[in-house]
Amino acid sequence: MKDPLVRLRESMLATGYTLDGVRERLGDVAATALSREELVPALRATRDGDPLGTLIRLWWLGVPVEPPPGLPVAELAAAGLLAAADGGQVVAAVHLQPWETGGYVVSDRKVRPGDPALRADHVVGAGGASANLAQLVSRRPVRRALDLGTGCGVQVLHLADRAEEIVATDVNPRALELARLSWALSGIEGVDAREGSLFEPVAGELFDLVVSNPPFVISPRGRFTYRESGLRGDDFCRDLVRQAPRLLNPGGTCQLLANWLHVEGEDWRDRVGGWLAGTGCDGWAVQRDVQDPAEYVELWLRDAAEQGTARYGELYDDWLGWFEAENVTGVGFGWISMHDSGSLDPVVRVEEYGGRVELPVGGYVDEVLAAIGRAHRLTGAELLAARLRLAGGVVEERIGPPGAEDPSTIMLRQTRGLGRTARAGMVEAALAGVCDGDYPLAPLLSAIADLTGESAADLLEKAPDSLRALIAEGFFHISTG
Ligand SMILES: C[S@@+](CC[C@H](N)C(=O)[O-])C[C@H]1O[C@@H](n2cnc3c(N)ncnc32)[C@H](O)[C@@H]1O
Repeated sequence: MKDPLVRLRESMLATGYTLDGVRERLGDVAATALSREELVPALRATRDGDPLGTLIRLWWLGVPVEPPPGLPVAELAAAGLLAAADGGQVVAAVHLQPWETGGYVVSDRKVRPGDPALRADHVVGAGGASANLAQLVSRRPVRRALDLGTGCGVQVLHLADRAEEIVATDVNPRALELARLSWALSGIEGVDAREGSLFEPVAGELFDLVVSNPPFVISPRGRFTYRESGLRGDDFCRDLVRQAPRLLNPGGTCQLLANWLHVEGEDWRDRVGGWLAGTGCDGWAVQRDVQDPAEYVELWLRDAAEQGTARYGELYDDWLGWFEAENVTGVGFGWISMHDSGSLDPVVRVEEYGGRVELPVGGYVDEVLAAIGRAHRLTGAELLAARLRLAGGVVEERIGPPGAEDPSTIMLRQTRGLGRTARAGMVEAALAGVCDGDYPLAPLLSAIADLTGESAADLLEKAPDSLRALIAEGFFHISTG
């Protein structure tokens, strides 16, 4: 007799309970509403009682249904997935949804306004933040990977095809229970799941890749483990950044999402840069968004469906009062990547970048980290002797008054990757036109000096600094061929 979870997985796949199947069955309007967590259009679209509509109602929408034929009800109830409902119907005890990897994610159901308060050991489902981290994580195959704070286990679904061995930890035992169901229903075997806080379950071990979508929410008290660590302010993310490098094998990478405080009188870049400095790793932190204290409090009160409750005003006031007492002016949301490059002179880059990026970032994040490190470590003389190549997809934009002979501004714009733009002087723009990896920089600069009448000595002295910035931002590569 087959394992009931294997039978469930096979029947979900056979019925078309996949992301594409659900999207097609619901239609654009209901599917898009569902991605905004609005259920009504999907409830209306699945009233027919067809097999796929029934699975969507049961597992995603949380509606009692007649047990679908062949569903091993008793076994799934014993596994904690199903419960009996009135009139011989069954109701899901969890939220079970297909995920973009082709697998399934089991979590607690999201709370909605009017629902009973969240349980303290609530296991949050895969959502926007989970997908963001998955998009950020390096695609390089690795031997050992760690997912710290695995929750419903979703990051493991993404790591499974590129890590030989995966350890997943969580402080919440219920999270590990549901994560194991996610992995079993996704056909993933052999994950080493361990209970415990921060790095305690993996003390003394080394990994090639550490990923974490941590409990980064900053609040006066840790009420919900799924999002708040209970540590003061942004200390959890700070500790993660400071301690993770100790677990990395040479060449290893650590990538996480984080929130950080903006405190009056302190530049947030110094705060986050301070976390990264001294880790021995090259580090890259990107602030993707920043919210003021009130927006932040509203976001997380809404997340726990606390708007409209009797305690809303009290909780809001308490949280805001704490921010005020701590001189907090805002909260930054972002990514942090660290790479153990082995250099004795590690480099840290902290920047704000809210623009659209090419996904998955993980496809080129290793290059970004390498470029930051290389640009920092090249001496002026090495740079002048290097052969540069304009990165693929870089275009030039010239802006100036109509009819003018020369543009007032020249911009280099990346049409791929991070989509950065950089202002270029005439020299950088000229180099962008000729750098194809064939000639070292010094003779190219001399030729540009001859053409423009500038002093070659001046160009050779000044160009390395501006080019170093453009190399760090991925506009030029050092040609190795
Ligand atoms: C935001 S959820 C992330 C879940 C999942 N990894 C994802 O990407 O969606 C954070 C997880 O960290 C766990 N957690 C909270 N405090 C922790 C701690 N001190 N050590 C380890 N994990 C912790 C929570 O139980 C929760 O499952």
